Parts: sequence; structure tokens; C-alpha cells
Amino acid sequence: MSAERGSGGPPVQVSILVPTYNESQNIVGLLRSLAESIPRSIRAQTIVIDDNSPDGTGRLADDYARGAREIAGHTVDVIHRRAKQGLGSAIMSGVQQAAGSTIVVMDSDFSHPPSVIPEMIEAVKQSRCDIAVASRYVAGGAVRGWPLRRRVLSRLATGIAKRGLGVEQHDPMSGFFAFRRNLLDGLKFDGIGYKMLLEILVKTRGARVKEIPYTFTDRRRGASKLGAGTALAYCRSVWRLYRHGRAAARGGPGRASARFLSKAARFYTVGASGLGVNYLLSLLLAAGFGGVWYLHANLLGIAASMTTNFALNKYWTFEDRDFSPRRTAVQYGKFVAFSSAGALVQLGMVYTLVESHSLGYPESLVLAVMAAAFGNFVLNKKWTFREGLWP
Ligand code: GDD
Ligand code: MN
Repeated sequence: MSAERGSGGPPVQVSILVPTYNESQNIVGLLRSLAESIPRSIRAQTIVIDDNSPDGTGRLADDYARGAREIAGHTVDVIHRRAKQGLGSAIMSGVQQAAGSTIVVMDSDFSHPPSVIPEMIEAVKQSRCDIAVASRYVAGGAVRGWPLRRRVLSRLATGIAKRGLGVEQHDPMSGFFAFRRNLLDGLKFDGIGYKMLLEILVKTRGARVKEIPYTFTDRRRGASKLGAGTALAYCRSVWRLYRHGRAAARGGPGRASARFLSKAARFYTVGASGLGVNYLLSLLLAAGFGGVWYLHANLLGIAASMTTNFALNKYWTFEDRDFSPRRTAVQYGKFVAFSSAGALVQLGMVYTLVESHSLGYPESLVLAVMAAAFGNFVLNKKWTFREGLWP
């Protein structure tokens, strides 16, 4: 680190991290443009992280930093690393030095327009989100100047992240993003390759993310550092994140709502199938085979549907594959108990609602069925199959 942080004065609020490798044709222009784009009301610090660029980018940044002392409200620091160690690790070095509570990460080659930064900072500072992603792939965003090959590769990498890692954002590959610094507290990062944002998104699942559209314009000066090695690094990084995700999946915040809803949907599908079993068996026993007394037939129909419901919920809904007799018997007992209790609750609710004249019978019935069904799902989830209530 060459330039020490501006002593005295109010504390830095925002740190802008700019990793560079051979960007001598861009760095000074970018630092100027940053100084103009960030409102004076924000105490900002730009940190250039240079990996000993052979073209002298580091020296240019140092020179600029010395002069920039005068510009009100905006300091420039330079971190000099001994050799090229990759973009992800450069960002992590910057995070360690950052004094601001909000951190912005961007490229130094003008692909990321500084004019978007104020909106990103606002989003994070106003606590409307934890991470603001400048995004090419939401409405209003675009990519300009990329050859077909890069476009296809980018979409492919994005697809892998979405499907393979279950990331919900449209542009998890963006190199342009802002976040609350303390979001990373206590987390460990691999910092492999280019994909810092993806790693952050996966490891802070449940964080509130806002995507802000922007137009990525391919660099006019200098060359991209993205090579064959980057693709390899990407695969390694996805693999590690995938294993990380599997380890965190149990109990992790994950896509909790999605998992909860998908289980509820299975539970009610099973319930519907139970109605079918109940109805058919009750009819068949009474009419078809030797005329069992209709109430007995219905009782058998109920028992049969409870049993098929239980088996399907155990195996399919809650994916419990342990069918040892004792465990299964205990679970079956609880399941039947909750189902019966659900029926009683439903009866009681219908009675109360109708008698209090607050609702008609059909409306009361809908409410009561819904309440009982929901209670049934939640109770069985927690007590019969021993999962947490949420997700
Ligand atoms: N310190 C340091 N060390 N900086 C590096 C290194 C490194 O090893 N490698 C690249 N950089 C810097 C570059 O100087 C530039 O400022 C920035 O990181 C991005 O590098 P580019 O080589 O310009 O990347 P790109 O334009 O091909 O890719 C960009 O778009 C991708 C979107 O698909 C980057 O923003 C990627 O992060 C992004 O994923
Ligand atoms: Mn670039």
C-alpha cells in the first residue's frame, strides 16, 4: 500500500474498488470520471488494486492519488501487489483495506459506467437492499460491442449459475456491484477467478438483492484479461460453491419459501389423491363387493386413504426413506391423530362461524377446510416427520 488514507476529516462512507492489470490507457481517465460522478456529499475513497502491471498502471495511479488529495471528499489509495493474482483475489484485498461501510466493485476499462454508481450506493445506504447489482440482463440493461462468442459464453456461465447453484438474480456474473461491508463478516471466500459476485450471492443467501439495469460497453483501449484459464477457474469455483451450497442446504436460509411451498404443494396433492381413494373404495365396498354396510364401507375408505396419504407423504413429500417398523408405526400414529384432530377443528370452526352468523355455510366451509389443511401440514411437518416448521 503506498498512499496512506487521508488523515483527519469525516470518515469514509463508500469505498470503490478498482482492480487493474495493464490498464495504463484507462486508469487515469477512469479515476477522473469517478471524481466527477460521485456526489460531493458522499465521503468516498477509491482503492486501485494493481498487480504490478508491466505497463506502469500502478505508477500512474500513484501519481494521480497524490494530486487527488485536493479534491474535496474523495481520496484515492493504491494497493500494490507483487504479481498478477487474479481479479477475485484483487477484490478481496481491496475489501480488507476498505474503510467505507458501503463497497462498490467495478472494472477499470469503462465497461462499467460510473454514472450508475450513485444509484447503487443509494440503494445500499438507504437499506433498501444488502447488495445492488448493476445488471445487463434485466429490462433496460444491455451489452454493447461484444462478439457473439463472448455473448454466448456469458449466457452459458449465467445459466450454469442459475440452474446449478439456484441463484435467482439475472446477472450473477456481473463485475459491477455494491454491498454493505458487514454483509461479509464471518464469511470465508475462495476468491477464485473472476466471479466474486457469484460467490458472495451464494454465501449470503437470503440477502436482499436489487438489480439495477446498465449497458455494458466493451473496452475501447487495452485488452481483456479473460482467457482460457478463466473458464477453468469458473468451473472450479462453481464446483466449490455447489458443494458449499449442499452443505448449507440443510437448515441454511436457502430458498426457504420455495422449499416450503413445494412441500406444501406435494402435501395437498397427496391429500387430493386421498379423497379419490376414499371415495372410490367407499363406493366399491358398499355396492360392488357383497354389499358391506355403507358406514363400514366409508370407515374402511377413510382408513385406506389415511394410510395411502401417510405412505405418500412419508416417501414423497418429506422424503423420509427410513421405513423401520417402530419409527414408521409411531409416525403413522401421529399422522392419524393429526388428521382426526384436523377433522374436529374443521367441524368446530364451521359450527362457530355459521352459528355466529358472521359467514354463510359455503364460505365457512372454505375457511375451515383451509385452516384444517394448513394446520395438518404444519403439524405433520414438525411433529410427525420431525422437520423444522420453516422452511
Ligand atoms: N489486480 C488485478 N489482477 N486486476 C485484474 C486482474 C488481475 O489478475 N485480471 C483482470 N483485472 C482487472 C482488469 O484490469 C479490469 O479492470 C477488470 O479486472 C476486468 O478485467 P477484463 O479483462 O476487462 O474483464 P472482461 O471485460 O473480460 O470481463 C468483465 O465482464 C464480465 C462480465 O461477463 C468483468 O467485469 C468480469 O468480472 C465480468 O464477469
Ligand atoms: Mn473489460
